Amino acid sequence: MNFNDAKNEVLQVLSKTERQHLPKLLEWLKTSDDLDDFLVDNQSVILQSIAEDLRVCLPLEAMAPSETMAIQKTQQKPHPTVHVDAFLYDEEAVDSLCEEGKMSRNYCLNCGSHRTAPLEFISHSFSIPELHFLFHNVLPDLSGKLVVDVGSRLGAVLFGGYLYSAASQLVGVEISSEFVKLQTMAVEKYGFSDRIQVIHADIRSQSALVQNTDVLIMNNVFEYFMEPSDQMQAWLFISQNFRKKGALLVTVPSVQETLALFQDAVFLETFVLSQWIEEVPLDYTVYLKNDTDPDSLKQIHLYRVL
Ligand SMILES: C[S@@+](CC[C@H](N)C(=O)[O-])C[C@H]1O[C@@H](n2cnc3c(N)ncnc32)[C@H](O)[C@@H]1O
Repeated sequence: MNFNDAKNEVLQVLSKTERQHLPKLLEWLKTSDDLDDFLVDNQSVILQSIAEDLRVCLPLEAMAPSETMAIQKTQQKPHPTVHVDAFLYDEEAVDSLCEEGKMSRNYCLNCGSHRTAPLEFISHSFSIPELHFLFHNVLPDLSGKLVVDVGSRLGAVLFGGYLYSAASQLVGVEISSEFVKLQTMAVEKYGFSDRIQVIHADIRSQSALVQNTDVLIMNNVFEYFMEPSDQMQAWLFISQNFRKKGALLVTVPSVQETLALFQDAVFLETFVLSQWIEEVPLDYTVYLKNDTDPDSLKQIHLYRVL
């Protein structure tokens, strides 16, 4: 049944429903988890299976011991914050861990008392619903395109792009050798090597690749992992090499928000003067699984190279 036929059937059902039950029915349509099963597809099931494989290879906080800067930056946040990788642990998995006492959504305000406040969670990966949104709602048809994920970590973007898009090549560039090993293991196990390649490198050494890229994905790449001066250098590198006219850049958070972190007038002037990209407005009002955080989708921004 196509969309219009389905819509007409739904309207028919609504027109036959007793008036007093309509608000309850509409509320159920908008909020019930019962409908989530309709959104489960084979691709998402494969992504969940990859996440399960990777979970057992990592500690609960899914950080490598070498990531001291990222660990410190998380600990220094004004509000108590923990890293929970959203690709590895969806809301259901977090609930189970909380029930088992292995994780907590709250911290204690006065030790030993019942006064608690919610912990802030940050994730260094996209969740499966975010990947679905990215490849189905943010990006156009990617047939024949080269997609590069800057800082590919667990490979979530690469695997999402393989399963949810027709991109001909997906390349992940990751600076941490521990995460390169994990991605390579999953690529081999799931037979993805015909379209996915993982490179162990600093993105700043990959000018030829970046110059050739059609879609560049940058999910909070540098902020937690590099000193501010290196971050600025990396952004200048991207703006000087990612220049194919019409190519698409996806960032989390927005480029404006990232630039606001740097208080270096010369850098900002060079960056603004380069007149490099324009923002493409996105429609964030899509229906995803009920436990998807709508605010996390709003962090995703799309730009076109001018
Ligand atoms: C927030 S994670 C992004 C994960 C992944 N792209 C996703 O969306 O699920 C950022 C990753 O970038 C890597 N990284 C940081 N600086 C980098 C650089 N200069 N070159 C390559 N990778 C880098 C970090 O090691 C980290 O794994």
